Amino acid sequence: MKCLSALIFSFLSLLLVFFTLLNISDALSQEEVNAVVKRLREERKNFPEGLKQKSVSVADLECNLDQAIIDEIHSYQDVVNDIIELFTTGEFAGKTYQYLTEMTDLFGPRITGSQTLEDAIDWVVSTATSEGFTVYTEDVAAPFFERNTETLKMISPRSADMNLIGLGLTVPTPEEGITADVLVVSSFDELTTLADQAEGKIVVYDVPFTTYEETLQYRTGGAVEAAKVGGVAALIRSVTPFSINTPHTGTLFYSESVPKIPSACITIEDATLIHRLQDKGITVTLQLYLGAVNHENGTLTRNTILEIEGSKNPEEIVAYFVAHGIHKKNFQLIMESDFGTFKPNGIDFTGTDEATCMMKEIVSLTTLLGSLNSETDRYFWYHHTNGDRIEVYNSTHLDQVAALWTAVSYVTADVSFRLPQPTIVDSLEHL
Ligand SMILES: *[C@@H]1O[C@H](CO)[C@@H](O)[C@H](O)[C@H]1NC(C)=O
Ligand SMILES: *[C@@H]1O[C@H](CO)[C@@H](O)[C@H](O)[C@H]1NC(C)=O
Repeated sequence: MKCLSALIFSFLSLLLVFFTLLNISDALSQEEVNAVVKRLREERKNFPEGLKQKSVSVADLECNLDQAIIDEIHSYQDVVNDIIELFTTGEFAGKTYQYLTEMTDLFGPRITGSQTLEDAIDWVVSTATSEGFTVYTEDVAAPFFERNTETLKMISPRSADMNLIGLGLTVPTPEEGITADVLVVSSFDELTTLADQAEGKIVVYDVPFTTYEETLQYRTGGAVEAAKVGGVAALIRSVTPFSINTPHTGTLFYSESVPKIPSACITIEDATLIHRLQDKGITVTLQLYLGAVNHENGTLTRNTILEIEGSKNPEEIVAYFVAHGIHKKNFQLIMESDFGTFKPNGIDFTGTDEATCMMKEIVSLTTLLGSLNSETDRYFWYHHTNGDRIEVYNSTHLDQVAALWTAVSYVTADVSFRLPQPTIVDSLEHL
C-alpha cells in the first residue's frame, strides 16, 4: 500500500469526526449507512463527553505487538527523519505558513455556503495543481447558515453596545429584535431553582470555563433549557479561559419539543458585568437582534482531494473522506486536525487497542520533532472567534505539524500490515 490523500477543506466537522469513531462495516447497505449517519447525528450533542469517556492514555495500554511489526515500523526511521528535515529546515520550511497567509489574506473567513469558500477551493485546486499534486473536487451537500447583522445593546441601567456572536444554527430574532429583562444564572441547577422568574426573560448563562468538555454544554444546550422555563432568548458566556472582550461562537442544538429561541455568545466581561448588576438588585434590560438565516435545503459545496497515488494497492486510502465511508475496507487511517495547529503534541487516536499500539510505535519515530508538548491551552483563547487570524500561528510550529502529519500518514500508508479495525457493533457500543 502506498497511497495518500489529504482533504484540505472540511466542513460538517463534527459529523466527520464521528466517522473517525466509527468504522462502517464492509457489508453495509446504503440504508444501513443512512441509519448509522442518523444515529450519529442524534449522538452529536453527546460528542465531547462520549469522546472523553473513550479516551485511554497510551501509557496505560499494555502493548504486545509482534516483534516483526515493531521492526517494520522502526525500519522507517530514516524516512521519517528525512520528512521532518524537509519540513523544518529543508525546502518546505516556512511554506505552510506562506500558503496559509496567502489563502487567508486573499479570502478571509470561509463559512460553508459562502462564495469566498468556493473561491478559496478554486485557489487550493490551482495552487496544489501547480505544486504537482493530482487534485480533484467532489460535490457535497452541506448545511448553509448565514449569520448576517447581529447587535446587542444594554438599554438599562445604562446604555452600552455589547460584543456578541450568534451561535451556529440559531434562529433569528424578529425584525424588531427582542427587548427584555435578563435573568442571569451560573448553572442549569440555578436555572431550575429560579425557573419561576424566567418567563419572558433573556436568560444569561454566566458559567466560568473549567474544561471545554464541561463548559460546552451551556453553549450547546443553553437555548433549550432556557426555552423550557419560558425564556425568550439565551446568551451564553463564551466558552474560553481568556478574553479581551471577545465573543466565541459554536454550534447549538435545538429540541423539537420546546420553542427554538435565538441564542448567541457574549463576552466574559459582559456576562460578569450583567451578573454583578443583577446581584446588586439592579434590573438589566437588553435589546438583541440576530439576522441569522438557515437555508432549509442547505447548499452544495466541494470536498477538495489532493492525491498521491500509491505504487501498490492504489485503491487504499489514508485520508479523511466521509463520502467513501462505505468503502471502509480501503481505509487504513482517517485523520482530522481540529485542535489548532500550534506546536504539535502527538495525535489522539481512536481504534482498537492493537491499532493504538501500532500508532504509538509510529509516532515514536518522530523524536526529531523534540518533545511533543503542545500549547493547546492557547487554542481556546482564539477558538471560534474573529481573532483567529494568521498572527495566531507560528511558522516553526506549523512546519512541525506538517512534518508530523506527513510522517504518520506516509508510514501508515506504506507499511505492509493493516491497522485492525473495530467492528461496527463495537463502535456503536462506544458511542
Ligand atoms: C427545499 O426542498 C424542498 C423539497 O425539494 C422544496 O419543496 C422546497 O421548496 C425547497 N425550499 C427552498 C427554500 O428552496
Ligand atoms: C515560533 O516558535 C519558535 C519556537 O518555539 C520561537 O523560537 C519563535 O520565536 C516563534 N516565532 C514567533 C514569531 O513567535
